[in-house]
Amino acid sequence: SPDSLEECLNVDDIEALATKKISRKAWGYYFSASDDLISKTFNNRVYSSILMRPRIFVDCTRCDTSTTLLGNQVNVPFFISPAAMARLGHSDGEAGMARACGTYGAMQIISNNASQTPEQIIAESKPGQVFGWQLYVQTERKKSEDMLARIKKLPQVKFICLTLDAPVPGKREHDERTKSGGGVAGNLAVRSAVQQGSASETKPHPEEKTLRLEEKVEKDDSGGGVGKALFAGTAPDLTWKTTLPWLRQHTDLPIVLKGLQTHEDAYIASLHAPQVKGIILSNHGGRAMDTAPPSIHTLLEIRQYCPEILNKLEVFVDGGIRRGTDVVKALALGAKGVGLGRAPLYGNGAAGQAGVERLFEILKAEMETAMRLLGCEKVSELGPQHVNARAVERD
Ligand code: FNR
Repeated sequence: SPDSLEECLNVDDIEALATKKISRKAWGYYFSASDDLISKTFNNRVYSSILMRPRIFVDCTRCDTSTTLLGNQVNVPFFISPAAMARLGHSDGEAGMARACGTYGAMQIISNNASQTPEQIIAESKPGQVFGWQLYVQTERKKSEDMLARIKKLPQVKFICLTLDAPVPGKREHDERTKSGGGVAGNLAVRSAVQQGSASETKPHPEEKTLRLEEKVEKDDSGGGVGKALFAGTAPDLTWKTTLPWLRQHTDLPIVLKGLQTHEDAYIASLHAPQVKGIILSNHGGRAMDTAPPSIHTLLEIRQYCPEILNKLEVFVDGGIRRGTDVVKALALGAKGVGLGRAPLYGNGAAGQAGVERLFEILKAEMETAMRLLGCEKVSELGPQHVNARAVERD
């Protein structure tokens, strides 16, 4: 397995390199998924059952991966899905990811439970860079309201991503097992920057902060794992009826709902357009309801039962994206963009910003090859005629 970034030729290599470099605790948290890892495994596998339908005699001299996401120009249709605690893996953290997104013109959704504050992360961005901020509504609503007020002051944040698939965390045994020594139930160190109430825009020395963070997380023997510690305070009582009106009072930004797993919920979401501008079909990387379907199944359900919503909302997918061909297949089936959860965490774990850049370099090159071999110059040319998803439709 690879010992350096240069030796990493694909996303699996990057995961293997990160696994060597990050602490057991970080690995347990990143790698883990619920119960028997059935959704996680299926997320990774499902794309291999979708076949490409390449066309011949098409001039593929040019290839352009740029597109728009929610009306914002980006250079690549893949984006960073919100994922907590990047600094568990490397001191560059989410701010390093922001720099990598700057290099590649990629969009980043900052987690509610990021290990750096939104101000710290966005301070590292270039003009024109696009961010979303992900919200886990807190039982103490005032905490979320204060965060939304902070987000208002950050014009780079173009939307609020409201995650709905994990009103409670799944049972993640790899995360629970990798405890070691000490006792820190409710320890500050396993709380995100926001939970720590840090509104500060000043940066501690990166190494210093990571050491402190890791030291304490390494001592987590509360038995709940990092995931459970982070979920403390997250509200389990959200509803269509109450939550969207509440949110409207506290933000003017478009809303993207994350974690939809059925076409029924996608349809209801579309009734809330234009306040709801997009949906991310997701099973939380298999970390919430185990045996929930991969997002591509939900996308196929939408195509079958309520295809009109693809014109009312931007529909995104995440989960199990490991290859440029996976990105291309999702786009061909109607996704406007594709989220990456673990892959950037592993890139960061492997080598900080440089690791995330290597990940983007690999995925972009793989995407370009796939588009050229299909006979597509532009993202907008991709359509269902480019794939055969019958094997998945039968599942
Ligand atoms: C996540 N995910 C997540 N989602 C979210 O809305 N808020 C969050 O804070 C987190 N945190 C988080 C931490 C870790 C370690 C992982 C692996 C995932 C879910 C994430 O946004 C995304 O849906 C999945 O990770 C996508 O699956 P892949 O790309 O990891 O296969």
